[in-house]
Amino acid sequence: MIIVLLGPPGAGKGTQADRLAARLGIPKIATGDVLRAALRDGTPRGKEAKAFMDRGDLVPDSVILGILQDVMNSPATAKGAILDGAVRTVPQAEGLGIMLAEIGKKVDKVLLFDVDDEELVKRLSTRTVCEGCQTPYMGRLPGSECEKCGGRLVRRKDDEPEAIRNRLEVYRSQTEPVIDWYKDQKMKVTKVDADAPVDEVTARALEALGESESGVKT
Ligand code: AP5
Repeated sequence: MIIVLLGPPGAGKGTQADRLAARLGIPKIATGDVLRAALRDGTPRGKEAKAFMDRGDLVPDSVILGILQDVMNSPATAKGAILDGAVRTVPQAEGLGIMLAEIGKKVDKVLLFDVDDEELVKRLSTRTVCEGCQTPYMGRLPGSECEKCGGRLVRRKDDEPEAIRNRLEVYRSQTEPVIDWYKDQKMKVTKVDADAPVDEVTARALEALGESESGVKT
């Protein structure tokens, strides 16, 4: 099953993608994580993306489509994938559709995580993330230790106030049109109210995917 997660920055896409991946047994593909790893490794892709990411702008479609091409043709995604923030422009949605059709696949589900702006800003301005495994935390200070891998928690450069503002604007102008594009393709986009405790949001997402928490299909 190929699942596309849409939603503004801070809506909890990454948090929920980890949980859905564990529950459904398919990998999470987060283009933000792939780009940050490329940046840390100093690859040409990472160097190209850095300035865009620091400002909170989208990196060029060509870079994202290159990443998607690599991952969708990898054996790791043979059973499906949860695409976290991997489709943020209409050309990316079109490009993904074409590359999946070439390998006899398609996007099966699109979930849209919905949270109001005030809560998004609160979440992002208090977030720290693990330098190593990228797990996000709320209310934990930079320099603390990651519970999962023991890595160091840091603040993301794009979680500074100006970059947060820009990311929200970029989401409205460039990513929201993707919702209508999927609807025009007769694809159902299921809105998930994500302004609730993390467990509750997971339950809502599983229900939207037709999966119950006990593992029985609903
Ligand atoms: P990316 O890393 O994907 O950032 P983003 O989309 O801005 O999303 P975030 O990671 O900020 O938020 P999230 O929705 O995953 O929420 P999270 O679970 O962390 O991308 C970074 C950059 O890379 C982009 O700006 C762009 O430059 C580039 N990029 C990536 N993909 C691209 C693409 N396809 N095209 C072009 N450029 C691309 O949660 C946020 C916080 O809230 C955490 O602290 C978490 O603990 C907390 N939280 C989560 N759920 C809840 C809850 N239910 N209640 C309370 N707190 C919660």
